[in-house]
Amino acid sequence: MTNRVLIFDTTLRDGEQSPGASMNSAEKIHLAVQLERLGVDILEAGFPAASPGDAEAVRQIAERIRTAQVAALARASEKDIDLAWEAVKNAARPRIHTFLATSEIHMKDKLRMSRDQVIDTAARAVRHARCYTENIEFSAEDGSRTDPDFLCRVFEAAIDAGASTVNLPDTVGYAMPDEFGSLVSYLIANTKGIERVVLSVHCHDDLGLATANTLAGLKAGARQAEVTINGIGERAGNTSLEEIVMGLHIRREQTGLTTNIQTREINRTSRLVSMITGIVVQPNKAIVGANAFAHEAGIHQDGVIKNRMTYEIMEPETVGFSANRIVLGKHSGTHALRKRVEALGYDLSEEELLKVFTRFKDLADKRKEILDEDIEVLIAEEVLRAPERYELDYLTVVTGTVMVPTATVKLKIDGKENQGAGFGVGPIDAAFNTITKITGTEAKLVRFSINAISRGTDAQAEVTVRIQDKGLAALGKGADQDIFVASAKAYINGLNRLDYLKKNPIIILKESSLKEAPGEAV
Ligand code: KIV
Ligand code: ZN
Repeated sequence: MTNRVLIFDTTLRDGEQSPGASMNSAEKIHLAVQLERLGVDILEAGFPAASPGDAEAVRQIAERIRTAQVAALARASEKDIDLAWEAVKNAARPRIHTFLATSEIHMKDKLRMSRDQVIDTAARAVRHARCYTENIEFSAEDGSRTDPDFLCRVFEAAIDAGASTVNLPDTVGYAMPDEFGSLVSYLIANTKGIERVVLSVHCHDDLGLATANTLAGLKAGARQAEVTINGIGERAGNTSLEEIVMGLHIRREQTGLTTNIQTREINRTSRLVSMITGIVVQPNKAIVGANAFAHEAGIHQDGVIKNRMTYEIMEPETVGFSANRIVLGKHSGTHALRKRVEALGYDLSEEELLKVFTRFKDLADKRKEILDEDIEVLIAEEVLRAPERYELDYLTVVTGTVMVPTATVKLKIDGKENQGAGFGVGPIDAAFNTITKITGTEAKLVRFSINAISRGTDAQAEVTVRIQDKGLAALGKGADQDIFVASAKAYINGLNRLDYLKKNPIIILKESSLKEAPGEAV
C-alpha cells in the first residue's frame, strides 16, 4: 500500500457551506489558483446543481486549473451528474463526485428508500458518471452511522459500477477516533474490490474530533483525506487541511505517511480564505492562528531563546510565517511593490498593481512601515473582489461628547452616484443607518467585530460584520486605517454579498433539501 495521502480540498464546496461564507466567482478562482499552488491533489470546486452561479464558477475553475484534479459534487441523480460533468469537462483532470445517504435514519426519513433501492441508485449513478469519465468518487453520506455490512455492500456496488474512489464521511461529526479507525479497517477487510480503489475519509468537527478521526482513518489504511483550509465548513466545520498535513509531516516517523503539500504556502492560503470568506481565524487555532507561535510566558521565552525546540515542535517558517515581516515604506515605488507582491505569491496585471499601489501610497503617507499583511489586505480589497453593486465613494462622520453622531455618505449604486446623511447612537451606527437608507436595503446587523491587522495605534483596522436579510446571511469585511471607514466598507461588502446571494440562490445541502421521492433519485 502506498504511503502517500491524497489531499482532497473542499474549501470551495463544503467550506462554502459555512454560515455566511459565500464567495463570488472571481474570489473562488483566486482561491483555486492558490490551492493549486499549495499542492492539493484534488480540488472540489463546487456543487453545480446548487445554482447556475456555482456551476459557472466550477466551469471557470476547471478551465484555469491544470495540475490538480477538479471535482464537482452531484447527488445520485442523472440531472446532477450531467450538470457536474458539464461544469468540469474542460478540466485537465476532471472528477465527478456523487453521493447518497446510507444510514438508516437518512434512508428512512429523508430518502424514503429501502436498502436495495439505495444500492441500486448508487450503482446507477456511478454507471451514469462512467459515460463521461473514469475518475469517479462515490460518497456514502452519513457513512459513520451506517450499518458496516450494508456499507460494504454499497461500496461494492459502487466499485463494480466503476467508482475509482469511495469515501466514508462522518457527516454529522459523531464518530470517535478508535471507532472510526476500526470502521475503516473493517471496510478494507470486508469490501470486495476495495484494493482497486482509493478509500477516502471526510470528517466534520461537531465534537472537535475531525482531525483525530481523519488521522485514525488514514492510519487504518484510508489514502485520501477530505479537508478544508482553516477547517471551515457546515456547522462546526470540516477537518482542517493544515492540521492533517502538519500532523503527518511533523510525526512522519510515527505515521509513515506523506502528502504533496507545499507547507510554506499554508499560512498564505489560510489568510486568503479568511480574507475572502470573512471568517476570522481564532487566535489559538493550531498551525495558522496568530498565537500559534507566540510565547508569552517568561519561562517559555527563556527556553525558546536557548533552544527553539524546547517549546516549538515546528518552525514558523515551515508553514509560511516569515521571520522578517517589515517590507516597504513611503519611498518604495511600483517596482519594489511588484517584487513584494510576487514574493507573496500574487500575479497581478499592470492595472491591478496600479490600484494596489495607489492604496499603498495612501497608507505609506500615514505610516512608516507597511507589512506583508497590510499588502495582502490591499490586494484582497482592490483585486480579489469582483465588480460590486455598491461602492463607497466617501464617508464623513461627526461625533463627540456633546453632539448627535452624524454621517454623510456618498455611494455608487450600479455605477450611479447617491448620497445622504443620517444619525445614530454612535458614528458607526450613523454610517450604517445612512448606508441602509441610501441603498434601500433592510439587512439587520447581527455581528460586528474589529481587529488590528498589525500592532500599534496606526495599524489598519479590519472590521467583520455579519448581516441578515430574509433568511439569507452574509459576512462582510473591510479594512482601513480609519475604523469608521473600515466599518462602512465591511457593511457595504456584506450588502454586496447578500445581493450576490439573492441573484445566485444556493441550495444548501441540508437534509430537507435532499429529500427525494422514492425511486426518483436517479
Ligand atoms: O459531509 C458529507 O457527508 C458530505 C458529502 C457530500 C461527502 O459533505
Ligand atoms: Zn461534508
